[in-house]
Amino acid sequence: MIRIRRLGRADAAEYRAIRLRMLREHPDAFLESHAEGARKGTAVYAERLAASPVLGAFVDGELAGTVGYFRETSAKARHKVTIWGVYVAPGHRGLGLARRLMEEAIRRLRATRGVEQVRLDVGTWNRPARAVYRAVGFRSFGVERRAMKVGRRTVDEELMVLFLKPVPRA
Ligand SMILES: CC(C)(COP(=O)(O)OP(=O)(O)OC[C@H]1O[C@@H](n2cnc3c(N)ncnc32)[C@H](O)[C@@H]1OP(=O)(O)O)[C@@H](O)C(=O)NCCC(=O)NCCS
Repeated sequence: MIRIRRLGRADAAEYRAIRLRMLREHPDAFLESHAEGARKGTAVYAERLAASPVLGAFVDGELAGTVGYFRETSAKARHKVTIWGVYVAPGHRGLGLARRLMEEAIRRLRATRGVEQVRLDVGTWNRPARAVYRAVGFRSFGVERRAMKVGRRTVDEELMVLFLKPVPRA
């Protein structure tokens, strides 16, 4: 059985475990390093989950995937939301979980007054993730060269956006 819901303080330990797993397994896919994530204890994750939405996909009660989002706070940018932390554990991939997580996040954002566009960054190398984002409607609007430095390597990132409302023509 698959259930998607917002994570709360009580999920902090399980969320910390899956978060550290994604940071360890995919250093090229996330901005935060594993060392940075591991320095924070469960209480910090609990605060984060209470303050900023993270949706979790549970498969038979086990946390198998996540997506987070945050809204800009300044008056001129409050129409923009950024998606982060998209992950599905290896044993659950290819079953549509990421698509369902993204669709649920988008559904919630459409229902949030004043939110007009959703953005995200994805490594140009990351075909699976780019396919998911395209499948739910995101489109590319540029590439940030050398967006991340992972040790001595650099990662270029594609910038993607989904407009929730039609954009008036200039
Ligand atoms: C990217 C990721 C979240 C996809 O999760 P997933 O649950 O396997 O994806 P889904 O099964 O929901 O796939 C959704 C769509 O994306 C496409 N897709 C998914 N994986 C793909 C792959 N390996 N190759 C090509 N297309 C792929 C499929 O076409 C699918 O479309 P469909 O629903 O029409 O079949 C997962 O591979 C992952 O966690 N990767 C490592 C972390 C990461 O890179 N996160 C993104 C950071 S920006």
